[in-house]
Amino acid sequence: MTVADQEEIKTHQVPERLLSSSLPTPHVVSLDAYRKLWKESVEDPDKFFGDRAREMLTWSKPFQTVRHGSLEEGDVAWFLEGELNACYNAVDRHALKTPNKVAIIHEGDEPDQVRKITYGELLREVSKVANVLKNLGVRKGDNIVVYMPMIPETLVALLACARVGAVHSVVFAGFSAESLRDRVVDSSARIILTSDEGRRGGKNIATKRIVDDALRDHQTHVEHVVVYQRTGTPVPWVQDRDVWWHEETAKVRSFCPPEPMNAEDPLFLLYTSGSTGTPKGIQHSTGGYMLGAMLTLKYVFDYHENDVYACMADVGWITGHTYLTYGPLLNGATTVVFESTPTYPNPSRFWDLIQKHKITQFYTAPTAIRALRRLGDQWLEGYDLSSLRVIGSVGEPINPEAWDWYNEKVGKNQCAVVDTYWQTETGSIIVSPLPGATPTKPGSATLPFFGIKPIILDPTSGKELNQVDETGVLAIAQPWPSMARTVYNNHHRFLETYLKPYPGYYFTGDGASLDKDGYIWIRGRVDDVINVSGHRLSTAEIESALVHHEAVAEAAVIGGHDDLTGQCIHAFVSLKPHVDTADGLDKELTLQVRKIIGPFASPKRIYVVQDHPKTRSGKIMRRILRKIVNGEQDQLGDISTLADPSVVAVLIEKVHGPQ
Ligand code: WTA
Repeated sequence: MTVADQEEIKTHQVPERLLSSSLPTPHVVSLDAYRKLWKESVEDPDKFFGDRAREMLTWSKPFQTVRHGSLEEGDVAWFLEGELNACYNAVDRHALKTPNKVAIIHEGDEPDQVRKITYGELLREVSKVANVLKNLGVRKGDNIVVYMPMIPETLVALLACARVGAVHSVVFAGFSAESLRDRVVDSSARIILTSDEGRRGGKNIATKRIVDDALRDHQTHVEHVVVYQRTGTPVPWVQDRDVWWHEETAKVRSFCPPEPMNAEDPLFLLYTSGSTGTPKGIQHSTGGYMLGAMLTLKYVFDYHENDVYACMADVGWITGHTYLTYGPLLNGATTVVFESTPTYPNPSRFWDLIQKHKITQFYTAPTAIRALRRLGDQWLEGYDLSSLRVIGSVGEPINPEAWDWYNEKVGKNQCAVVDTYWQTETGSIIVSPLPGATPTKPGSATLPFFGIKPIILDPTSGKELNQVDETGVLAIAQPWPSMARTVYNNHHRFLETYLKPYPGYYFTGDGASLDKDGYIWIRGRVDDVINVSGHRLSTAEIESALVHHEAVAEAAVIGGHDDLTGQCIHAFVSLKPHVDTADGLDKELTLQVRKIIGPFASPKRIYVVQDHPKTRSGKIMRRILRKIVNGEQDQLGDISTLADPSVVAVLIEKVHGPQ
């Protein structure tokens, strides 16, 4: 979006309905009130976060020091001496006070499969699994891999790990066996929690089989695989390694004391793609992460006691950690776990879900909004969505057309639309409107959350850009509680990726600008990360999957624009000498990527080329490929530095046909 487009965008004031007496009073009721709180939070973070950490979390041992360390040194720590347990905070304290309150509503793959789990039941289930883990030899600090579908037991698995002080590492169940294995190996996990199968959109997903494949013939440290029975389809069994969840939990007590953890002990790892190398295990802390999850859920979604909160993200991604599991449960909320897809059995599924459970906050991704908008408004007809107060979006920039549709058709112009910007590494939302307080502009994530001091830097000089509407890179100038602490087993990489590029700042990897009102406009990644339907992928990883194929000599992958998925993958491959451009190569290469990474990383287009555009030193100029794919072949700039400038015309013809 250009600045001119941006200026045409209408500012939406907070809908009056949100401030009316028929609804709970929002936690922040004006822009001034927000600004005052924000100022306090960045000027005196020790007081702001110290007070809230004491008030909102339950500590078994209080902390003395709120904050220590700096972004320069990369040694940030929060609530240093404090001890607490994430599972106790998310489950026990609510189970003790309101045992009959529903913690989880599970909407199964079929709309008539609804299961409700109270906080009292959740405590018993979590305790049993925690005891099973202990019986299997799990100790505080062990890493445990979770490869499970969207069922309540997946949340139980995470909480059980937290209860015994183990560090969960969830791998999205769409990842292939090879990706799963890489993550299992990197984290030296001894236990994997999985299910026999998953169900999604009427189809079975072979989770256990993928785990078996990941462990076959390879040296991992895995001693046990705990299998939850979801569908009952018979699955192959490895004697002495595999155990059934239902058999083991039947043997143990339904109470397990929570392990006191230091605030800085790791709560979880989550692997994510960067611009280079293998995926990194982003490591989050216990205390700071919990405070971030709890505070942002309360303020950004304006959570109140009787709400029914629904986040559509998969637990395999950070949104499923912070806004499906920890954020809602820490607040004692009712959280909806949705197993299906937006279009199963038909494109009314979301609206049916909202009406049925009287959902008050609904959180999804732009790609789903765009897909549903395209399918037509008739799918919304007749549904009562009046329970909604806040509708959120996350994962990629939301285009103003999709924003408007979401606001009008789903929110009926009566809800707060929160476009929330954050990352796996930030742990919780860092830029977002607050319902009740922030006027919105479609396409802008608006203003920083408490404690976040965003700065736009000139990518070359690293100096602060003070000009309105000038695009630079987005950085954060102060540490905040839920920021990632390190990359598992590779602190050097953590420093090099996030803290060294602009000393004294956390570097997000996104381009952004500020408008005259100080609103933040995120422009997308400035590195080699592609965002397809909100899934983060690195070009290097896809290229490496492609060159694994025996026919491929070299591959270059870039992100093209896509109306539905935001970005899509275009791959340019050159073949080894003497390889025929055999039919079916496209298909084989797609399979190759699916096998090595997972189906969501499939390229949309694969072009077989003689040559890539290369500099004289042999470096592929991906910038040129990106411009050609995105129809900017008239703006390629100087191509005389290419070793062979004539390849450009050939490539343009390949992509766009004869000119
Ligand atoms: C992008 C997902 C624009 C961004 C929570 C970021 C967004 C990456 C937004 C992180 C948004 C996320 N507007 N871009 N509201 N939200 N992004 O780690 O490029 O899967 O760096 O975390 O998604 O993706 P991740």
